Amino acid sequence: MIKNDQWIAMLLPPEIRALTQDELIEKIRGLKSHYGDTAVILAHHYQRSEVVMMADFRGDSLELARRAHSLESAKYIIFCGVQFMVEMAAILCRPEQKVVTPAPNAICPLAHMASLEDVTRAWNTLSSIVNIKRLIPVVYVNSLSEVKAFCGERGGIICTSSNTRDVVKWVMRTGERFFFLPDENLGVNTCNALGIPKDKIVAWDPALPDGGCDPEDIKGSMAILWKGFCHVHTDFTLQQVKMARENYPGCLVVVHPECNEEVVGAADATGSTSFIVQYVEEASPGSTIVIGTELNLVRRLTEEHPDKTIIGLSDSSCPDMSLVNLRNLFWVLSNLGKVNIVEVDEKVKKFARIALERMLTL
Ligand code: 13P
Ligand code: SF4
Repeated sequence: MIKNDQWIAMLLPPEIRALTQDELIEKIRGLKSHYGDTAVILAHHYQRSEVVMMADFRGDSLELARRAHSLESAKYIIFCGVQFMVEMAAILCRPEQKVVTPAPNAICPLAHMASLEDVTRAWNTLSSIVNIKRLIPVVYVNSLSEVKAFCGERGGIICTSSNTRDVVKWVMRTGERFFFLPDENLGVNTCNALGIPKDKIVAWDPALPDGGCDPEDIKGSMAILWKGFCHVHTDFTLQQVKMARENYPGCLVVVHPECNEEVVGAADATGSTSFIVQYVEEASPGSTIVIGTELNLVRRLTEEHPDKTIIGLSDSSCPDMSLVNLRNLFWVLSNLGKVNIVEVDEKVKKFARIALERMLTL
């Protein structure tokens, strides 16, 4: 977590605020060549294009986790993403490395839909209904670090949008049922892809007593899904997919698995942000591709593929992802090692790392 004094430092000095985009780009490039391999900039695909342009590596959550885990010569990892991503890097990197975030106030609202208190309460209730030793927690990477640690401490595993199916397959060989959190849509879409019947899935609503579930349904279930959602991806609707197909006959529709099951069911393909990038790259020139994911990525793909027609299912942006900009990136680079260093409690780190490494070695 970022300390309060570092939040205050977010109010950038006027001399930085006065710089133009071109000046910022030049200065950031200068600092990058000054630091060489000792400072590496990682950026998620949803970052602003000008930020992605400055990155040494861009990727989806899994690729960024792998990169943070394997960087050899970097002393500093400047992570352009939201809180769960930067903390994941701080959990996975080596002890002598420091992770720095340009925007400590960038969170993922989905991650905050499952607090440690609510998850613990749910777990305790579930343990009075089923054999808890045969219930495996599967925590989506878009989660709080302490919830990842809770999962690691109980034999569970982390997943990302690019490996959920493999993780759930592994879990189904290990236990009787799994408790998936916090994104219900990713859970439902994965169950559908794996052929888990609807009557074997229950939704756990943390706002209701006993999750709003009948204990008999829990006993008969294979999957218990936390009722969390991403506000960016639940903006997309089946109606929009139908309209896109009417307006652009022959178009391809590709969406992120955080979209609801109707949207995913009506799409031609679904996958992580890197899957979407690759899908567009591999489409034939002249094709029309309609994309259901965050706006910064859709806009960048439009710019990068002028030989294809790329359209957003609708304009849905993640304001948190856009909190990183050239100004705060320049500010952390020019004060490297002194500001916005990401810290995670040592006990949380230990157990969250177990759950993350379980995924990475799968
Ligand atoms: P990816 O892991 O597919 O990059 O997704 C991260 C995310 O936050 C999606 O909303
Ligand atoms: Fe979280 Fe959704 Fe933003 Fe991804 S797009 S970081 S899930 S709020």
